[in-house]
Amino acid sequence: MSKTITIYNNKGGSGKTMLAVNLAACLAVQGYRTLVIDSDDQCNATAYMNGLDFSPTVADVYNLSLSELPVYKSEYHDNLFLTPASGGLDLMDRQMFCRGEGEYLTLKRAMKHVRNDFDYIFIDTPPTSRSVLGYNALLASDYILTPVDVDGLGGLFGLPKVLEFINEVTSLHNNNLRWLGMVLNKCQNNWSTNEVINQAKDFLSQDNLEKSIFKTQVKYMNRLGNSSINKNPIIFSEPNGIGAANFTQLSKEFIKRIKQ
Ligand SMILES: Nc1ncnc2c1ncn2[C@@H]1O[C@H](COP(=O)(O)OP(=O)(O)OP(=O)(O)O)[C@@H](O)[C@H]1O
Ligand SMILES: [Mg+2]
Repeated sequence: MSKTITIYNNKGGSGKTMLAVNLAACLAVQGYRTLVIDSDDQCNATAYMNGLDFSPTVADVYNLSLSELPVYKSEYHDNLFLTPASGGLDLMDRQMFCRGEGEYLTLKRAMKHVRNDFDYIFIDTPPTSRSVLGYNALLASDYILTPVDVDGLGGLFGLPKVLEFINEVTSLHNNNLRWLGMVLNKCQNNWSTNEVINQAKDFLSQDNLEKSIFKTQVKYMNRLGNSSINKNPIIFSEPNGIGAANFTQLSKEFIKRIKQ
């Protein structure tokens, strides 16, 4: 039975897509069958993994024209799969909202036929995830994983909302859901990184949640940034580089936390 993990932070640019795609790719290389579901109108995970020319997509599930999730093998690895997104998901969110709360289980139902096919399923979400699409992701998930951008002092702004949303969903809709933790992203050896990490620890200690912070930090790497020309999972583009080693270490901690 697969484990489903929503990558969630109520903050744009924190590294959700980067984390979903690179962690999934790294696990695929280690022999785990892994699926990335792109549930973001921006289609960044889709572009990151394969390109944009797909039909059907997850949008066909949300608009109820398809009852089973479409799944495509990635061009990078036999163990890595993608459910692509397409534009218009934000509009569908509005339509689902109008149709009512029953729409929260659309994704979970559509995933039924793939549950036994994968070890790990990642759902990449948009920055404003407290939406019908967001509820769909969390109700279909076992875990939430939150990347936090420490490159700048605003990285923690989304965190109170993250914890609030998790508490709401676990108490009202899915009490199997667990917060797997927080991955510090874009880490550098400088004052602002340390400052954000200290603030995060202070904030989390109020609820005894300091241990939620992953020991493995994702380094700031130009290769993962906007200016990079060929943005694809780093484990494939530079298998022997620092980035691949960084994600391999992260994936080991990820597996350990899932097993705990
Ligand atoms: N560790 C890193 N080092 C350098 N650049 C990074 C790193 N992680 C992410 N980036 C870059 O930061 C930007 C935001 O990352 P990403 O798109 O993964 O964030 P996101 O949370 O998915 O954003 P959105 O909320 O818009 O979906 C991207 O240009 C990405 O390439
Ligand atoms: Mg994204």
